Amino acid sequence: MRQGFLALILAAGEGTRFKSNKIKVLHTLLGKSMLRYVLDCVLKLKPEKVFVVVGYQRKAVMEEALSDKVGFVVQKKQLGTAHAVLSAKDILAKRKDKDLLVINADLPLLKPQTLRPFLAFHQRKGNALTFLSAELENPTGFGRILRSGKKITRIVEEKDASPSERQIREINAGVYLFRVKDLFQVLSKVSNKNRKGEYYLTDTIEILLSQGKKVEVYRTSHPEEIMGINDRYELAKAAEILRRRKIKSLTESGVTVYDPATAWIETEVKVGRDTVVYSSVFLEGKTVIGQDCRLYPFVHIVDSKVGDRVKILSSTMIEESTIHDEAQVGPFSHLRPKSIVREGARIGNFVEMKNAVFGKKSKAGHLSYLGDCTVEEKVNIGAGTITCNYDGQKKYKTIIRKGAFIGSGTELVAPVEVGKNSYVGAGSTITKNVPPGALAVSRGKQVEKRGWSRKKKEK
Ligand code: UD1
Ligand code: CA
Repeated sequence: MRQGFLALILAAGEGTRFKSNKIKVLHTLLGKSMLRYVLDCVLKLKPEKVFVVVGYQRKAVMEEALSDKVGFVVQKKQLGTAHAVLSAKDILAKRKDKDLLVINADLPLLKPQTLRPFLAFHQRKGNALTFLSAELENPTGFGRILRSGKKITRIVEEKDASPSERQIREINAGVYLFRVKDLFQVLSKVSNKNRKGEYYLTDTIEILLSQGKKVEVYRTSHPEEIMGINDRYELAKAAEILRRRKIKSLTESGVTVYDPATAWIETEVKVGRDTVVYSSVFLEGKTVIGQDCRLYPFVHIVDSKVGDRVKILSSTMIEESTIHDEAQVGPFSHLRPKSIVREGARIGNFVEMKNAVFGKKSKAGHLSYLGDCTVEEKVNIGAGTITCNYDGQKKYKTIIRKGAFIGSGTELVAPVEVGKNSYVGAGSTITKNVPPGALAVSRGKQVEKRGWSRKKKEK
C-alpha cells in the first residue's frame, strides 16, 4: 500500500453559467466560498501538500486559498480539465511515486468522511486511477460512465453523449486519484476533438486502459454530496443543504432551533449549549454566541461575539460588536461596528450604537444615539439622548463616568465629559464638561402667559 498523497484542486475556470463578474468558485454558500469548502475538506484528509490550479481572476482566488499547506499553479488559458492538470507538471515531476487527488473546486457538499474510504480503496488496490462515481436520479450535466459488461471503458460528457448514453445514471463526480507517474505519461495524449473543443481529464481513463493500467470506479453511497455547482440555482440548492446540515449539527450539540425552516446560521458560526434560536434569526460570518442565550425573531447578527445568558430581543441588528454575559439588547436596537456592551447592561427600543463602550449594568432603554463614546458602569441614559459626535468634518468623543444620570432628551455635544455620579437635567444641551457629583441643566427657562389661549381666540 502506498503512503501519503498530494492534492490538486481545479479552480481556474470562469464558470460562465453563473453570469457573474466574479469567478464561480468564489461565490459563497452560507458565508463561505465554494473553493474554501473544497479546500477545508481536502485539508482534513491531511495531504502532504495541496496545489490549487488558478487562472481566471487568479489574484482573488489565491487570496482566498492562502495558507502554508497550499501552493499554486497557473493555467493561463482555460483549455479544459486535462490541460489544467498539465499546468502542475513541473511541480509534480519530482513526486512521481506519489498519489494525486485531483478534485473540481465546485463540490462544496463533499465530506471528508466520504473521501477517506475512497482514498483507502485506491491505495489498497494500487490502481493507476480510481475515480469517484454516484448513481443519480437526474444525471443531466454530468459525465456518464460507459461500461462494457461490468468493466468501465470511458466517460462521455453530456454534450458528446448520444441519446442512449444520456440515459445512463452512473456519473463522474469530478474527484480522481491518480498515480502521478501514470497520469503524466497519458496527459499529453489527451486530444481536444470533442464538442467543447477542450482537453478532458476524463479521457485519461480510456488511454490508461488501453495501456493495460488498472482503472477502477469507487461509487459513493452519498450521491447528494457530489452535486457540482454550475449555476446560481444549484448554488441556492446546495446552500439549502448546507443550512440544514448546520442546524442539525447545532441541535445535536445542545442548541434549540424553533424553526429550522427559517433560521439562517452560517457555516462558521458557533452557538453554545442551551441557547434558543427563534424563527427568522440570521447569524452570519464569524459570529460566536455563548450558552443559554435567547435570540428572538428577526435578530440579525454579523461577525459579533455574544457572551452567556444574553437576551437579544426581536428585530435587532448587531454588526462587528461584542456583548458580554447577561446583557440584554433590543427590541429594535442597532449595534454598529465596534460596540461593546458589558455585563448585565441593557440596550432597549430604538437605540443605535456605534464605536461605543457601554459599561456594566448601565441602561439605555429608549430612542438614543450613542456614537464614539464611553459609558462607564451603572449609568442611566434617559430616553432620546443623543451624542452629537460629528461637526460635519470630524468625529469627537463623549465620556460618561460611572453612576451618572442623563435626563431624557439630552444632547451631548462632543468632545464632552460627564463626571462620576453627576446629573444632567432632562432636555439639556451639554457643551461643557460636567464635574463629578454636579447637576447640569441647560435649557430655556419656561414662561407662562396666563390667559394667552383665550385672548388668541378673541382676536
Ligand atoms: C466535469 C467533468 C464531468 C463531471 C463533472 C462533475 C471533465 C471534462 N468533465 O464537468 O465528467 O461529471 O465535472 O461535476 O472534466 N477547470 C479548470 N481549468 C479548465 C477547465 C475547468 O481549472 O480549463 C476547473 C473549473 O474551475 C472547475 C472544474 O475544473 O472547478 C470543473 O470544470 P467544469 O467546467 O465545472 O466541468 P464540468 O463541465 O462540470
Ligand atoms: Ca462542474
